[in-house]
Amino acid sequence: MYSGLPLKIGRTASDGTFEADVLAGLSKRPRAIPAKFLYDAQGSALFDAICELPEYYLTRTEIAILRDGVHQIAARAGAGRQLVEFGSGSSVKTRLLLDGLADVSAYVPIDISGEHLEATCRRLRADYPALAIVPVCADYMELPLLPWLPGAAGAAKLGFFPGSTIGNLEPHEAQAFLVNARHLLGDDGALVVGADLKKDPDMLHAAYNDSAGVTAAFSLNLLTRMNRELGANFDIGAFEHDAFYNSDEGRIEIYIRSLRSQSIVVAGQRFFFEAGERIHTEYSYKYSLGDVDALAAPTGFIRAQTWTDPDELFSVHYLAAV
Ligand code: TRP
Repeated sequence: MYSGLPLKIGRTASDGTFEADVLAGLSKRPRAIPAKFLYDAQGSALFDAICELPEYYLTRTEIAILRDGVHQIAARAGAGRQLVEFGSGSSVKTRLLLDGLADVSAYVPIDISGEHLEATCRRLRADYPALAIVPVCADYMELPLLPWLPGAAGAAKLGFFPGSTIGNLEPHEAQAFLVNARHLLGDDGALVVGADLKKDPDMLHAAYNDSAGVTAAFSLNLLTRMNRELGANFDIGAFEHDAFYNSDEGRIEIYIRSLRSQSIVVAGQRFFFEAGERIHTEYSYKYSLGDVDALAAPTGFIRAQTWTDPDELFSVHYLAAV
């Protein structure tokens, strides 16, 4: 069984698209920079801190749901599955499945960052020496590039997409992801996916506007990163974090807002900001169970089972191939 360096497919995080993507994003209207660039080393550390905040219920709630539900997930999945994780994030969640599923035949983490992949795999190999681990360095939105995966030949696949990351995709992107995942996972495949639920807007607002200011620091770290890596001259104090719930669209919208009119140089190019002008970074869509059904229906998946916490803040779904 192959268990060396990650297999690299398509464009990955080390391909240096930050400058080109930032310049393109700042030039268009409305301005937008892809959220994946929030996660440099400092951003990743700040996001880990967000996951511990009292207001940010998502991570701890999903972990509790998985911990309570893993035996039922295992019963549905059966023995010998190949576990394919889209974006290998917090290993806490992965380990719950590796420990709870019967005889996992291989673990295939797909991540855009080779560094994250190698760190994750190193830790897992130490704790699961008998497990076949097949890391794949790729953008999981480019799943058509992954028509096959190395690993346990013939084993039925179980996909894992936790963290409400599906909510960071716009609905048409989420649907495209599910279509691709359905092809990749096959006719006997299934997908375990976490989605944040619609709820009291004040509670949603607080989760993205914590009182300690960690979320604001995470958001504004993107400016610090541009200063460092692209020779930009953003005055961090002249911008603010701006996140709110748009109930018509059912999503949190996240921006960086200019507090005054100012001119900024990024990678040698000058950009003018009006007072109040924003840079979009992220959407975080919130789902109802009906929304999940509507999303899955045209993609060849059916919502076979759903687990939630007692307060119905977060949901984990078993989408079975149909
Ligand atoms: N996946 C996270 C979410 O949707 C991302 C996130 C949380 C985020 N807080 C943020 C992104 C603040 C940008 C800014 O909940």
